[in-house]
Amino acid sequence: MPPARKALLAQIGGWGAAWLLGRCGLLPAGAWPLAFIQGAAAAALAASLRSARWWLPIHLAFTPLALAAQALALPPGAWLAAFAALTLIYWSSFRTQAPLFLTNRPSAAAVAALLPPGPAAVLDIGCGIGSLLAALATQRPDLRLTGIETAPAPFALARLRTRKHPGVTVIRGDFFTHSWAEYDLVYAFLSPVPMRAVWEKAQREMKPGSLLVSNSFGIPGQAPGRTIEIADRRRTRLLVFSIRPV
Ligand SMILES: C[S@@+](CC[C@H](N)C(=O)[O-])C[C@H]1O[C@@H](n2cnc3c(N)ncnc32)[C@H](O)[C@@H]1O
Repeated sequence: MPPARKALLAQIGGWGAAWLLGRCGLLPAGAWPLAFIQGAAAAALAASLRSARWWLPIHLAFTPLALAAQALALPPGAWLAAFAALTLIYWSSFRTQAPLFLTNRPSAAAVAALLPPGPAAVLDIGCGIGSLLAALATQRPDLRLTGIETAPAPFALARLRTRKHPGVTVIRGDFFTHSWAEYDLVYAFLSPVPMRAVWEKAQREMKPGSLLVSNSFGIPGQAPGRTIEIADRRRTRLLVFSIRPV
């Protein structure tokens, strides 16, 4: 079951349990006991649905925090605005399970060093706010750079950041529906979840001798041809896979 559906079920189940206990007169009066019981029941349900462990504190704290937030007495429009902003930034992350975080400059420099001098085509699948594209466009103006991004706000920012670089194209869409056949290097900084599908698409479409570079996330059952360790704070690892002829 997709994680978002599990989360929804856990929350609804938590409310069901809290309502039932309240109806049976097993809870002290007031909203707080209800909120804590709902959180505990939702967390227990999430555990029984085998949600990832980090979901449990979220379920536990969600309703109590929502209740506490009432004390701020913010206008309802503020919550709506925050929801709209988060939606524009994270868009379909609940489905793709690859949220926004950014490539740093040392990693971009290491990617640039993988490409021999002279023109080459690079694709950033899920280009976020264009961090890799902007850095590469400055370091290597000879490259033809393409980014594909599904979330509206990061896409708009990526376009804005790279508008002065004629070699950069930013496309709004799902990278699984675009061909990767023309690229010499495809760069992915996603999450563990889509990596098997990324590998299968790379195998089907990328040309022999081209490179698939994954920032941080491995591909199940595939050993990278090369691993580059970046001397940054998070000790980034770039996993480099060469596409072989089939
Ligand atoms: C971790 S960020 C990486 C951003 C950028 N590549 C960088 O390194 O700075 C992953 C991005 O991929 C996007 N994404 C995830 N799945 C996608 C898909 N199927 N098609 C297009 N974009 C996707 C997300 O919206 C998110 O902005």
